[in-house]
Amino acid sequence: MKKNNTNPRRDFLELSLKSSLALPFLLNPIFGCNSSEISSTKNSSHKSLKILILGGTSFLGPNQIAEAFQRGHSISTFTRGKTKPSLHQNLFEQVEQLIGDRENDLSALENRKWDVVIDNSGRKVEWTKKTAELLKDNCQLYVFISSTGVYYPYKSEDFKEDYPVVRSLPEDANEDSKMEYDYGIMKANSELQAIEHFGPERTIIIRPTYMIGPADKTNRFIHWPLRLKKGGDILVPGKENDLVQYIDVRDVSKFIFHLIENDITGTFNAVGPEQKQNIHQFIDQAITTFDAPSNIVKIDDYDFLESNKVFYIVPWIMPRDNNRGSAMINNQKSIKNGLSFTSIQKSIKDTYDWWISNELSVEHRLAYESDSKTILLREKEILNNWEKHKM
Ligand SMILES: NC(=O)c1ccc[n+]([C@@H]2O[C@H](COP(=O)([O-])OP(=O)(O)OC[C@H]3O[C@@H](n4cnc5c(N)ncnc54)[C@H](OP(=O)(O)O)[C@@H]3O)[C@@H](O)[C@H]2O)c1
Repeated sequence: MKKNNTNPRRDFLELSLKSSLALPFLLNPIFGCNSSEISSTKNSSHKSLKILILGGTSFLGPNQIAEAFQRGHSISTFTRGKTKPSLHQNLFEQVEQLIGDRENDLSALENRKWDVVIDNSGRKVEWTKKTAELLKDNCQLYVFISSTGVYYPYKSEDFKEDYPVVRSLPEDANEDSKMEYDYGIMKANSELQAIEHFGPERTIIIRPTYMIGPADKTNRFIHWPLRLKKGGDILVPGKENDLVQYIDVRDVSKFIFHLIENDITGTFNAVGPEQKQNIHQFIDQAITTFDAPSNIVKIDDYDFLESNKVFYIVPWIMPRDNNRGSAMINNQKSIKNGLSFTSIQKSIKDTYDWWISNELSVEHRLAYESDSKTILLREKEILNNWEKHKM
């Protein structure tokens, strides 16, 4: 891992940690021998469910709430009351909004019953331990939103759900890899807490890869909707064989309720697209979203990209070192159990429409679009450097 004074890779991780996933990790099996390819499907029931979401106001939450209401379920959320939704704001009138703090105040959850608890906001193993302990007799099912970050370092070419995950920091972890390890280890050990308290028959573990779609305030994917809408010379990093993976946040939401309603428990990689896709296939599809005339400039020289501080443009992550297999997560078990996929064109179009909508603050939009560190604003300069580099 290269050291830079301003380390874009670290910025990326810090942002990821604040708002969602990180990059992957590996050692002990999560379910041991219990992790079968197809999970147990009990009797199917589609009754209206009382659902508690820990979190619920950020990215995944508003999309889950829209899906839950469509399916006739009722929702309570539990947050500190700080994060305001930037999508489906009107739906929150019908949500019971409980206030507390996972750090030190779970009183709003005491002596209450729900059918299902969905733990979106798991950031510390202790948090999951405490909520699972508190809720195990008052909820039937615990859904823990984990991450493919549990597979870090990505040293396989095919991560199935029973791939051994790392549970403690290796001695040789350096300052840069520590952050990536920490996130995966936290998620992997949190998964175990949910399973320990609810038991494998009452626990669903969802491991999403990079989620894309409306309400993503991490700004990790918005580069593509904005860039493709504008057209012109478009930098596309990566080699022909560089794989990419991503999942529309609404597909994750649908999948969660499909599993819940059909009594399917177990651990699932929530990963798209359906078929393996490389960065060039991604861009070939993505570019058809808008009709702006454009010219793709493929830059496949990793050293050049690194020296221009292009380490990733999600869903492309430079597949070097510990990230070699970060887009090689196996999604077959999830597909067999009902995961379906939104087209990339729809994900991009809907994300763009959300970005320019009134639900997102002008400040948020401007902060990103005027940030000179983004590839959006550095692209011209990088393309000029590339022209010179080729000569
Ligand atoms: N985005 C991705 O690409 C991605 C990929 C893989 C996995 N994931 C996982 O997906 C999950 C959902 O991500 P997300 O971005 O929608 O939500 P998130 O950022 O993980 O959670 C934010 C929610 O948690 C609440 N919260 C934060 N601190 C809290 C505290 N101390 N006590 C109570 N509530 C607290 C926030 O409300 P308040 O601020 O009001 O408290 C907000 O509702 C996360 O677990 C993430 O790790 C995300």
